[in-house]
Amino acid sequence: MRILLLGKGGQVGWELQRALAPLGEVVAVDFDSTDLCGDFTNLEGLAATVRTVRPDVIVNAAAHTAVDRAESEPELARTINALAPAVLAREAAALGAWLIHYSTDYVFDGSGEAPRSESDPTGPLSVYGATKLEGEQLIAASGAKHLIFRTSWVYAARGGNFAKTMLKLARERVRLTVIDDQIGAPTGADLLADVTAHAIRVVLSRPELGGLYHLVAGGETHWHGYASFVIDFARRAGEVLAVTEIAPVPTANFPTPAKRPHNSRLSTAKLQQAFGLRLPDWQCGVERMLTEVLGK
Ligand SMILES: NC(=O)c1ccc[n+]([C@@H]2O[C@H](COP(=O)([O-])OP(=O)(O)OC[C@H]3O[C@@H](n4cnc5c(N)ncnc54)[C@H](OP(=O)(O)O)[C@@H]3O)[C@@H](O)[C@H]2O)c1
Repeated sequence: MRILLLGKGGQVGWELQRALAPLGEVVAVDFDSTDLCGDFTNLEGLAATVRTVRPDVIVNAAAHTAVDRAESEPELARTINALAPAVLAREAAALGAWLIHYSTDYVFDGSGEAPRSESDPTGPLSVYGATKLEGEQLIAASGAKHLIFRTSWVYAARGGNFAKTMLKLARERVRLTVIDDQIGAPTGADLLADVTAHAIRVVLSRPELGGLYHLVAGGETHWHGYASFVIDFARRAGEVLAVTEIAPVPTANFPTPAKRPHNSRLSTAKLQQAFGLRLPDWQCGVERMLTEVLGK
C-alpha cells in the first residue's frame, strides 16, 4: 500500500509519519518540499503530486490552524482548509483512493452543555471554523471514499503547546489567570495518529465505515482545569514553580479576533462503536506528554 501524507511537519503530521509507517510505503510532503508540491496554496501542484504518487490512501494533516489570523486572511484560510482538500478529494475519487482528513469542534457554535454528535447542526463562529466546515462538505460531496475526524484541543510533545506555556508562566509568575468557561478534551496528536492508522486498516476491508467521526480523548475539562492538572503534575515531579494561585476567569477577559465555542464537547460514541476502540481519558495522554517535556 502507498500512502501520501500531506502536512508531515505539523503536530498530527509528525505523529502520522510514525503511526503510518507500518502500514506501507509513506510518501510524506510539506508545504516547502522540493521534489513534490505539498503547498496547499498551489492547487494545480497539489493535484500533480497526487497524480505522480498514485497513492492508495491520502492523509491530509495540513491546515491553516492560526485561528485568530484566519479572521484577517479568510481567502488564504479557505484555500488551505477547503479548496485544497477538495482538490485532494477530486484526485482521490479519480484514483479510487481513500482520503483521510481532520476537522474541528470549531464547526459548532458551542451553545448548551451536551456533547455534539456527528449529525448535530453546525454553526461555526469563526473563519477557521467556517473554512474547515466547507472543507468537510466539499470532501463529502466529491464522491471520494473518505474518513473525516473532527477533533479538539490538539497538543504534542514536539513544538509549543498550552501545557508548556502554562509551565513557563508558572515558573515566572505567582498568579495565573486561566479561562474556565470553555469545555473540551485535550487530545494528543499521537492518539489521533494511532487511531487513524487503525481506522485505515479497518476501512480498507470495510469501506461502508467511511464518513465523518468525532475523535477526541475521553473525559472533559476547561482550560483552567487543564492548567491546574499540568501544574500539579509538574510540582509532584519536583519542578520548582513560583505560582501560588491559578485564578479562573471568563473568556471575556481574553478578547481575541476569533470567537471560540464555549461547549467543545464531542461525543465519540459513533467512532468507538464502529471501530471497536476505547478512547483513553485526556489525563493519560497529557501525563505522558508532560513526562517527556519534563524529562522525567
Ligand atoms: N491544533 C488544534 O488544536 C486542532 C483542533 C481541532 C482540529 N485540528 C485539526 O487537526 C489537523 C492537524 O492540526 P495540527 O494541530 O497538527 O496543526 P499544525 O501543527 O498547525 O499543522 C498544520 C500543518 O499545516 C501546515 N501548513 C500551513 N499552511 C500550509 C500550506 N499553505 N501548505 C501546506 N501546509 C501548510 C503547517 O505548516 P506551518 O506550521 O509551517 O504553518 C503545519 O505543518 C488540522 O486539520 C486541524 O484543522 C487541530
